[in-house]
Amino acid sequence: MKQNLEGMVIPRHVALILDGNGRWAKKRGLPRTMGHKEGCAAVERTVEDAARLGIEYLTVYGFSTENWNRSADEVGALMQLFRFYMVRLLKVASANNVRVRMIGDRTRFDQDIIDGINRLERETAGNTGLTFVIAVNYGGRDEITRAVRKLAADCLSGSLSPETVNEQTVASYLDTAGMPDPDLLIRTSGELRLSNYLLWQMAYTEFYVTDCLWPDFSREELERAIIAYNSRDRRFGGVK
Ligand code: IPE
Ligand code: IPE
Ligand code: MG
Repeated sequence: MKQNLEGMVIPRHVALILDGNGRWAKKRGLPRTMGHKEGCAAVERTVEDAARLGIEYLTVYGFSTENWNRSADEVGALMQLFRFYMVRLLKVASANNVRVRMIGDRTRFDQDIIDGINRLERETAGNTGLTFVIAVNYGGRDEITRAVRKLAADCLSGSLSPETVNEQTVASYLDTAGMPDPDLLIRTSGELRLSNYLLWQMAYTEFYVTDCLWPDFSREELERAIIAYNSRDRRFGGVK
């Protein structure tokens, strides 16, 4: 029987590992790039669905620090898609009152991509609906390393004293500063691993894995994940 979301708790922050673009293309005898292209369309749909459902934060893993190890052809195609997609995203964000924010080390991208990211953040900063967070050149370990570097520099300069450093201080040095931790992680394509995603932030996040390949992801899939989330007995180390 199909359930609906009436009376259900909508997770405040949903994190997504979109995986399976390559497998989706392979199944159809298409180049991997076609899978990525379809994957972009699925991201666009999901942003609209998440905004409509009242999710406050949607954080999508688009390109990891490890993804640079793919072939130059695939990396190049992904960068091209990213360029194209940023322009589209500006329209989608404006039409849906979505604020866009990027996490990850953007300094490694070509200057026009950095400019595009900055523009997207700047022009959507005043939107008050969903915050759509794109993780690009993102790795949890890289994020923590950059945070530690900055924190150490602040200690050296005297603006921070080591004995006052607590968990809140560390969180404030991460790319996700000011955002709530994810309540729900959705990973498509069946893999049961984190792949270096939001390592600090997902300490108590509920996991939901579906075999659906990312380009096939739909509103129904998102709703299924939220229904599963509502059946979870969330604990944060305590007892009930
Ligand atoms: C996810 O799909 C997209 C990126 C990591 C950029 P994949 O490209 O990893 O697809 P599979 O896992 O090979 O099917
Ligand atoms: C995770 O997918 C990273 C992104 C979706 C950007 P990968 O396909 O890169 O992860 P692994 O290699 O299966 O762990
Ligand atoms: Mg993959």
